Amino acid sequence: MTKLILILLAQILLLAALAFAGDGGDFARTMNPKHLRLNKEKNLTHIRVFWHDIVSGGNPSAVRIQPSVPKSSTSFGSITLMDNALTSDVPINSTVVGQAQGFYAGDDQSEVGFLMAMNFAFKTGEYNGSTITILGRNTIYSKVREMPIVGGSGIFRFARGYVEARTSWFDHKSGDATVEYNCYVLH
Ligand SMILES: *[C@@H]1O[C@H](CO)[C@@H](O)[C@H](O)[C@H]1NC(C)=O
Ligand SMILES: *[C@@H]1O[C@H](CO)[C@@H](O)[C@H](O)[C@H]1NC(C)=O
Ligand SMILES: *[C@@H]1O[C@H](CO)[C@@H](O)[C@H](O)[C@H]1NC(C)=O
Repeated sequence: MTKLILILLAQILLLAALAFAGDGGDFARTMNPKHLRLNKEKNLTHIRVFWHDIVSGGNPSAVRIQPSVPKSSTSFGSITLMDNALTSDVPINSTVVGQAQGFYAGDDQSEVGFLMAMNFAFKTGEYNGSTITILGRNTIYSKVREMPIVGGSGIFRFARGYVEARTSWFDHKSGDATVEYNCYVLH
Protein backbone atom coordinates (compact mmCIF):
# COMPACT_ATOMS: atom_id res chain seq x y z
CA MET A 1 0.00 0.00 0.00
CA THR A 2 2.69 2.54 1.02
CA LYS A 3 4.66 1.47 -2.05
CA LEU A 4 1.71 2.32 -4.27
CA ILE A 5 1.27 5.74 -2.61
CA LEU A 6 4.98 6.44 -3.09
CA ILE A 7 4.81 5.52 -6.78
CA LEU A 8 1.74 7.72 -7.21
CA LEU A 9 3.47 10.60 -5.43
CA ALA A 10 6.56 10.21 -7.61
CA GLN A 11 4.39 10.26 -10.72
CA ILE A 12 2.59 13.42 -9.58
CA LEU A 13 5.93 15.13 -8.86
CA LEU A 14 7.27 14.11 -12.28
CA LEU A 15 4.16 15.42 -14.01
CA ALA A 16 4.40 18.69 -12.06
CA ALA A 17 8.06 19.06 -13.02
CA LEU A 18 7.26 18.39 -16.67
CA ALA A 19 4.39 20.88 -16.61
CA PHE A 20 6.65 23.52 -15.03
CA ALA A 21 9.47 22.96 -17.51
CA GLY A 22 6.96 22.86 -20.34
CA ASP A 23 5.48 26.30 -19.73
CA GLY A 24 8.90 27.92 -20.14
CA GLY A 25 8.56 29.71 -16.82
CA ASP A 26 12.20 29.20 -15.83
CA PHE A 27 14.02 30.50 -18.91
CA ALA A 28 15.05 33.77 -17.27
CA ARG A 29 16.02 34.82 -13.78
CA THR A 30 17.27 37.86 -11.94
CA MET A 31 20.96 37.70 -11.04
CA ASN A 32 23.20 39.56 -8.69
CA PRO A 33 25.25 42.03 -10.84
CA LYS A 34 28.27 41.14 -8.72
CA HIS A 35 28.43 37.78 -10.47
CA LEU A 36 29.43 39.60 -13.67
CA ARG A 37 31.60 42.11 -11.80
CA LEU A 38 29.15 44.90 -12.63
CA ASN A 39 29.56 46.35 -9.16
CA LYS A 40 33.12 47.40 -10.08
CA GLU A 41 33.83 50.87 -11.38
CA LYS A 42 33.78 51.10 -15.16
CA ASN A 43 36.86 51.79 -17.25
CA LEU A 44 36.94 54.48 -19.90
CA THR A 45 39.26 53.51 -22.75
CA HIS A 46 40.36 55.79 -25.57
CA ILE A 47 41.27 53.94 -28.76
CA ARG A 48 42.80 55.75 -31.73
CA VAL A 49 43.07 53.76 -34.94
CA PHE A 50 43.23 54.38 -38.67
CA TRP A 51 40.67 52.61 -40.84
CA HIS A 52 41.77 51.76 -44.36
CA ASP A 53 39.04 51.39 -46.96
CA ILE A 54 40.67 49.91 -50.04
CA VAL A 55 38.10 49.54 -52.82
CA SER A 56 40.47 49.63 -55.82
CA GLY A 57 43.10 47.29 -57.24
CA GLY A 58 43.32 43.54 -57.31
CA ASN A 59 43.17 43.03 -53.56
CA PRO A 60 40.41 45.27 -52.19
CA SER A 61 39.43 45.10 -48.50
CA ALA A 62 35.98 46.54 -49.22
CA VAL A 63 33.70 45.22 -51.97
CA ARG A 64 30.49 46.75 -53.23
CA ILE A 65 27.99 43.91 -53.24
CA GLN A 66 25.03 46.05 -54.25
CA PRO A 67 25.29 49.04 -56.62
CA SER A 68 23.50 52.28 -55.86
CA VAL A 69 20.16 52.96 -57.54
CA PRO A 70 20.46 54.30 -61.13
CA LYS A 71 21.21 58.04 -61.33
CA SER A 72 21.89 58.38 -57.60
CA SER A 73 24.67 60.92 -56.96
CA THR A 74 24.83 60.02 -53.27
CA SER A 75 25.48 56.24 -53.42
CA PHE A 76 21.91 55.70 -52.26
CA GLY A 77 21.02 52.01 -52.28
CA SER A 78 24.60 50.71 -52.33
CA ILE A 79 25.96 48.12 -49.91
CA THR A 80 29.67 47.52 -49.34
CA LEU A 81 31.12 44.69 -47.28
CA MET A 82 34.46 45.31 -45.62
CA ASP A 83 37.30 43.63 -43.82
CA ASN A 84 39.41 46.75 -43.39
CA ALA A 85 42.74 46.94 -41.58
CA LEU A 86 42.89 49.08 -38.44
CA THR A 87 46.38 50.43 -37.89
CA SER A 88 48.07 52.38 -35.13
CA ASP A 89 49.20 55.14 -37.48
CA VAL A 90 48.23 56.78 -40.79
CA PRO A 91 50.36 54.64 -43.19
CA ILE A 92 48.66 51.41 -44.14
CA ASN A 93 51.92 49.59 -43.49
CA SER A 94 52.01 50.74 -39.84
CA THR A 95 51.16 48.20 -37.12
CA VAL A 96 47.83 46.42 -37.69
CA VAL A 97 45.97 46.33 -34.37
CA GLY A 98 42.74 44.81 -35.66
CA GLN A 99 40.16 44.58 -38.42
CA ALA A 100 36.97 46.53 -39.08
CA GLN A 101 34.44 43.98 -40.30
CA GLY A 102 30.89 44.68 -41.38
CA PHE A 103 29.15 46.76 -44.01
CA TYR A 104 28.16 50.26 -44.94
CA ALA A 105 25.00 51.06 -46.84
CA GLY A 106 24.08 54.24 -48.69
CA ASP A 107 20.86 55.38 -47.04
CA ASP A 108 20.74 59.10 -47.76
CA GLN A 109 19.17 60.61 -50.87
CA SER A 110 20.26 64.22 -50.32
CA GLU A 111 23.94 63.82 -49.36
CA VAL A 112 26.51 61.03 -49.31
CA GLY A 113 25.66 59.22 -46.09
CA PHE A 114 26.03 55.64 -44.95
CA LEU A 115 24.64 53.40 -42.27
CA MET A 116 27.77 51.90 -40.71
CA ALA A 117 27.37 48.50 -39.07
CA MET A 118 30.73 47.09 -38.07
CA ASN A 119 32.80 45.36 -35.46
CA PHE A 120 36.29 46.45 -34.57
CA ALA A 121 38.01 43.13 -33.84
CA PHE A 122 41.25 43.81 -31.97
CA LYS A 123 44.28 41.57 -32.28
CA THR A 124 46.94 42.95 -30.00
CA GLY A 125 47.96 42.51 -26.37
CA GLU A 126 45.22 42.55 -23.74
CA TYR A 127 42.68 43.56 -26.41
CA ASN A 128 43.33 40.48 -28.56
CA GLY A 129 40.01 38.76 -29.27
CA SER A 130 37.86 41.61 -27.93
CA THR A 131 35.45 43.59 -30.08
CA ILE A 132 33.41 46.76 -30.07
CA THR A 133 30.34 47.21 -32.24
CA ILE A 134 29.67 50.51 -34.02
CA LEU A 135 26.29 51.34 -35.51
CA GLY A 136 25.74 54.84 -36.77
CA ARG A 137 25.32 57.46 -39.46
CA ASN A 138 28.36 58.45 -41.50
CA THR A 139 28.03 61.49 -43.74
CA ILE A 140 31.49 61.11 -45.20
CA TYR A 141 31.99 64.72 -46.32
CA SER A 142 31.40 66.07 -42.80
CA LYS A 143 34.59 66.95 -40.96
CA VAL A 144 33.69 64.91 -37.86
CA ARG A 145 31.14 62.10 -37.78
CA GLU A 146 29.97 60.84 -34.42
CA MET A 147 28.66 57.29 -34.21
CA PRO A 148 27.53 55.25 -31.22
CA ILE A 149 29.34 52.22 -29.83
CA VAL A 150 26.42 49.95 -29.04
CA GLY A 151 28.21 47.06 -27.38
CA GLY A 152 31.29 44.92 -27.13
CA SER A 153 32.78 41.56 -26.20
CA GLY A 154 35.71 40.25 -24.19
CA ILE A 155 37.35 43.10 -22.31
CA PHE A 156 34.64 45.36 -23.75
CA ARG A 157 31.60 43.45 -22.44
CA PHE A 158 28.69 45.76 -21.68
CA ALA A 159 30.47 48.52 -23.65
CA ARG A 160 28.85 51.73 -24.67
CA GLY A 161 30.32 54.94 -25.96
CA TYR A 162 30.93 56.76 -29.20
CA VAL A 163 33.47 57.23 -31.95
CA GLU A 164 34.58 60.31 -33.83
CA ALA A 165 35.59 59.65 -37.43
CA ARG A 166 37.74 62.08 -39.42
CA THR A 167 38.93 61.44 -42.96
CA SER A 168 42.74 61.53 -43.14
CA TRP A 169 42.89 61.19 -46.89
CA PHE A 170 40.58 60.26 -49.72
CA ASP A 171 41.57 59.48 -53.30
CA HIS A 172 38.68 60.61 -55.54
CA LYS A 173 40.05 58.61 -58.46
CA SER A 174 40.37 55.21 -56.78
CA GLY A 175 37.84 55.73 -54.00
CA ASP A 176 40.36 54.52 -51.39
CA ALA A 177 40.28 56.30 -48.05
CA THR A 178 41.94 56.38 -44.65
CA VAL A 179 39.81 57.52 -41.74
CA GLU A 180 40.96 58.28 -38.21
CA TYR A 181 38.69 56.78 -35.55
CA ASN A 182 38.85 58.06 -31.98
CA CYS A 183 36.78 55.70 -29.86
CA TYR A 184 35.66 56.44 -26.31
CA VAL A 185 34.52 53.21 -24.68
CA LEU A 186 32.94 52.84 -21.27
CA HIS A 187 33.13 49.17 -20.21
C1 LIG B 1 39.97 48.28 -15.84
O1 LIG B 1 41.28 48.75 -15.74
C2 LIG B 1 42.07 48.09 -14.76
C3 LIG B 1 43.42 48.79 -14.70
O2 LIG B 1 44.01 48.93 -15.97
C4 LIG B 1 42.20 46.62 -15.15
O3 LIG B 1 42.94 45.93 -14.18
C5 LIG B 1 40.82 46.02 -15.26
O4 LIG B 1 40.91 44.68 -15.73
C6 LIG B 1 39.97 46.81 -16.23
N1 LIG B 1 38.62 46.29 -16.24
C7 LIG B 1 38.01 45.95 -17.36
C8 LIG B 1 36.61 45.45 -17.23
O5 LIG B 1 38.53 46.07 -18.46
C1 LIG C 1 55.80 52.09 -45.28
O1 LIG C 1 55.78 52.47 -46.64
C2 LIG C 1 56.54 53.63 -46.91
C3 LIG C 1 56.34 54.05 -48.36
O2 LIG C 1 55.94 52.99 -49.16
C4 LIG C 1 58.03 53.34 -46.59
O3 LIG C 1 58.81 54.51 -46.85
C5 LIG C 1 58.15 52.95 -45.13
O4 LIG C 1 59.46 52.58 -44.84
C6 LIG C 1 57.22 51.79 -44.81
N1 LIG C 1 57.22 51.55 -43.36
C7 LIG C 1 57.25 50.34 -42.83
C8 LIG C 1 57.20 50.28 -41.33
O5 LIG C 1 57.28 49.32 -43.50
C1 LIG D 1 45.69 36.60 -30.42
O1 LIG D 1 44.90 35.48 -30.08
C2 LIG D 1 45.00 34.44 -31.06
C3 LIG D 1 43.98 33.37 -30.69
O2 LIG D 1 44.00 33.08 -29.32
C4 LIG D 1 46.43 33.92 -31.10
O3 LIG D 1 46.54 32.91 -32.07
C5 LIG D 1 47.35 35.08 -31.47
O4 LIG D 1 48.70 34.66 -31.44
C6 LIG D 1 47.15 36.24 -30.52
N1 LIG D 1 47.92 37.40 -31.00
C7 LIG D 1 48.61 38.20 -30.19
C8 LIG D 1 49.34 39.31 -30.86
O5 LIG D 1 48.67 38.03 -28.99
